[in-house]
Amino acid sequence: CGYLIQKEIDVMGKALSAPERPFVAILGGAKVSDKIGVIENLITKVDKLVIGGGMAYTFLKAMGGEIGQSLLDAEKIDLAKSLIEKAKNNGVELLLPIDTVVTDSFPEPINAEIATEIVPSHAIPADKMGLDIGTKTIEAFSKAIADARTVVWNGPMGVFENPILAKGTIAIAQALANNDKATTIIGGGDSAAAVEQLGFADKMTHISTGGGASLEFLEGIVLPGIACLLDSRTKLAAGNWKMNKTPAEAAALMQDLVAKAGNASNDVLVCPPYVCLDAVLKAAKGTKIMVGAQNMHFEDKGAFTGEIAPNMLLEMGVSHVILGHSERREYFGETDETVNKKALKALSVGLVPVICCGESLAQREDGITIEWIRMQLKKALRGITAEQAAGIVIAYEPIWAIGTGKTATNEQANEVCSAIRALVAELYDADTAGQIRILYGGSVNAGNSADLFAMSDIDGGLVGGASLKADDFTVIANS
Ligand code: PGA
Repeated sequence: CGYLIQKEIDVMGKALSAPERPFVAILGGAKVSDKIGVIENLITKVDKLVIGGGMAYTFLKAMGGEIGQSLLDAEKIDLAKSLIEKAKNNGVELLLPIDTVVTDSFPEPINAEIATEIVPSHAIPADKMGLDIGTKTIEAFSKAIADARTVVWNGPMGVFENPILAKGTIAIAQALANNDKATTIIGGGDSAAAVEQLGFADKMTHISTGGGASLEFLEGIVLPGIACLLDSRTKLAAGNWKMNKTPAEAAALMQDLVAKAGNASNDVLVCPPYVCLDAVLKAAKGTKIMVGAQNMHFEDKGAFTGEIAPNMLLEMGVSHVILGHSERREYFGETDETVNKKALKALSVGLVPVICCGESLAQREDGITIEWIRMQLKKALRGITAEQAAGIVIAYEPIWAIGTGKTATNEQANEVCSAIRALVAELYDADTAGQIRILYGGSVNAGNSADLFAMSDIDGGLVGGASLKADDFTVIANS
């Protein structure tokens, strides 16, 4: 996207997630129904909620006031009552107009010269119509704005198309312009127009041009087009070279891979045999390709003939380590307990563990896939904190699909990856589950990677055979 959308998301996103306080929202405009969602969301976030404009009369009525001929959204009175109650329960100070500029009728044409007077907002005479906020209200609202450190303003305070009824809206724009310590966000065509007309535009932090989308953003609605841009789970294409390639062959493959996948859209990781790490790391230097190991020991050093210690990998420049691959479990006595020890160790030295899990064909046929995976991962993740878990990678690799050419269907793979994410949410929290990357592995190739990676809970692949072919792995790295 462009810089304008970026600014919109940065400024409004910060206001919603971590505003400097006091945080004041000023809402105006004619209809309550247009702003219900915004009020409901902001009421959980702001310190003060200021309501002016036509919509204020429904709130005044809900509080038992007399509003004369002023605009009333009769069907929304109960809702207004519940919003007033919610504000109270959340400790949000609700500011409504104290006094109101009234006329005998709505100006015709809109900019007609009309006679006005100011009356208390809760006692508007039966034959009068409130069309702007009065002087006391301007004072009170301006004071709230002056004290604020974050202000969101959406909707005019009166019929600002008529100069006589524009004073409230102008005063609010002026108060915002005067507060140079606050982050000021103007949303909605009318308030933005008022600010532009008055020449205050450059005094505001941000004037939203997002229209309805910005309102939805303030309502807390997920905007799919934005959500996918903000997706923190960049896909990861991880190559597990297994026991293939000599150092010279590995260097040649890497050279090819760097040329083809050096700028791939996904994160890219290759995990060659230990003795090839040096050559592969040299070739990967300065590119986006990360290098991992296929295993490690959980001890720092000692009499463990044939083993490799975590700090040896770290010193070389390795960033990731595959742990608990089913081939290691099957042929080399790896257990859930050793996987857990290794994962804890990897995290303690700063290596990212890629923890593998997966069921056998018999287990799938017995219908115990999910239970089995949950058990494997519960043991593997024991003692790992939420913060650590958010950064690790889990690879779901059904054993029956590894190296067999049999891929799990997209749905089968996603079902288990979703169950893994649900388990992470259960063990930790939704945030951690949203961040952890879950890969699918098992006969991933250039022909099926795009569809697999498009599934909701599949964040990439752990790829064996196809990672040894630069062209195929390049396709996967861009899927
Ligand atoms: P495969 O291997 O892609 O050759 O099936 C996957 C793996 O074992 O990680």
